[in-house]
Amino acid sequence: MTQRTLVLLKPDAVRRGLIGEIIGRIEAKAGWTIGALELRTLDQETLEQHYGEHRGKPFYEPLVAFMSSGPVVALVVEGERVIEGVRQLAGPTDPIAAAPGSIRGDFGTIVRENLIHASDSEASAIRELKIFFPGLS
Ligand code: TYD
Ligand code: MG
Repeated sequence: MTQRTLVLLKPDAVRRGLIGEIIGRIEAKAGWTIGALELRTLDQETLEQHYGEHRGKPFYEPLVAFMSSGPVVALVVEGERVIEGVRQLAGPTDPIAAAPGSIRGDFGTIVRENLIHASDSEASAIRELKIFFPGLS
């Protein structure tokens, strides 16, 4: 089941010099490839679309402020069961609850600054890929 997913390396990951480390873990998975990759600073409109499901929640405003605080690396990852697979590599949202060996478990402590976003379903992947890579065929 070949899929595509949207991955964002969040501003904390970029600031801390973890781009290579995190992309390396993704690239190391058999058959997974990077279909597109871009360093960019996200504007309010993009973040409102991306995190629309969280609008109104107490963590929403600080989340958007954090996500626009510096550049992110946006990438499209393609391959076998990549949607579930990157979520597994990332670990749960709370880095303290995330197991060592996962990206959030190895590098994070703060829920908001949890290093990586990955689409959580096929429907989310399609929706998010359109926001970040509208030109993708
Ligand atoms: P969510 O979609 O629940 O998590 P995930 O990124 O694992 O899919 O939330 C989106 C982001 O919002 C999450 O990565 C970090 C931030 N967040 C908080 O800052 N506080 C919270 O209590 C939650 C649930 C999320
Ligand atoms: Mg989510």
